[in-house]
Amino acid sequence: MTASPQLPLRCWAEIDLAALERNLKLIRASLPAHIRYVAVLKADAYGHGLPHTAARLMHAGADLFAVANIAEAMVVRELSDNWPVLLLSPVLPDEDRYLAAHDLAATVSSAGEVARFDAAGRAAGKPIDVHLKIDTGMGRSGVWHAEAAELYAQIRSAAGVRLAGIFTHFASADEDPAFTEEQRRLFLDVLTQLPGLEPEKFFIHADNSAGLATTPDGGSVFNAVRVGLLQFGVLPHPNSLLARVRTEPVFSFHARVGLVKTLPAGTGVSYGRTHRLARDTRTAVLTAGYGDGLARACSNRGAVLIHGRRCPILGRVCMDQTVVDVTAVPGEVQCGDPVVLVGRQEGAEIALAEFSGWADTIPWETLTSVTKRVPRLYRNAASV
Ligand SMILES: Cc1ncc(COP(=O)(O)O)c(C=O)c1O
Repeated sequence: MTASPQLPLRCWAEIDLAALERNLKLIRASLPAHIRYVAVLKADAYGHGLPHTAARLMHAGADLFAVANIAEAMVVRELSDNWPVLLLSPVLPDEDRYLAAHDLAATVSSAGEVARFDAAGRAAGKPIDVHLKIDTGMGRSGVWHAEAAELYAQIRSAAGVRLAGIFTHFASADEDPAFTEEQRRLFLDVLTQLPGLEPEKFFIHADNSAGLATTPDGGSVFNAVRVGLLQFGVLPHPNSLLARVRTEPVFSFHARVGLVKTLPAGTGVSYGRTHRLARDTRTAVLTAGYGDGLARACSNRGAVLIHGRRCPILGRVCMDQTVVDVTAVPGEVQCGDPVVLVGRQEGAEIALAEFSGWADTIPWETLTSVTKRVPRLYRNAASV
């Protein structure tokens, strides 16, 4: 369910497509020219909306789209018959036939998958593209690094598959540089053991937003990066190697004031009466709650912007309504006034990272937790 565009907005997200395009260009400019840009757009492009973001990133020149599954890949296919698409999550056996039919590249981690894709490619009369994923310490998908050479040999001898890439994924790129370096070293070691590897023919990738350290001297074998969060203007970590690339936020989250009223000191606010008013308080009831993606964990700890002022959340966030303290807002707060949950208003800002901290979570989860009933409004839709 999405809100009818004719109805006034109560809670919505704004997606700045021009900022997204500028971010891609900025990230690209910070990398060596030969490095290809893999745009990670899984989970509906991190909640931003896959069709619009993929279309804009095609315009901006992304080299490959990485999505989680076939359903997401099909959204990209509606925009382009042949733009390269990689599926990051394991493919299920009953999904195999879609790979050749829609020219999708699969991640392979096991001999069983290679055998399946080989059979599917032969049946379709054209090889299926695969990216060999090597587990260097993430402990999720990927073939364990010590067994990678064997799987590589199997891929190279299978007529129904074509090697299109080799990659690994870092477990702690944003918090453990030593372990990331160890994973990078293991990956490079494996690459040296693969006979007949012609790196220029494949995507060779490891870095994500937090780990973008691809050697700028051009001597590295890496020739692609997988960028998710950073292209949406969120630094995974202030110490990230790309912290110098000042991408801009693409997403902002909005609601409105539904009701303004003054409550006497001592009143308990919202379910469970977990907040008691210490003084007579001017309150506003917002038109958003956890049913929209304003996490319940923000109860009694988050704030919103109204007229450019921070207004603390009082009591528990409810499904559709949230109460905030507007006593300190100069002038009169009125029913219908705009409220910023994440983003900027009159010179003030609530960053996604701060909001996510109140919600006890990470920006990736905040973005993908904005619910279906929240319309996404696309700003600056015309290309720059
Ligand atoms: C395999 C893989 N590569 C790249 C990314 C992109 O990561 P980030 O959003 O930190 O750039 C993800 C995201 O979870 C991922 O799972």
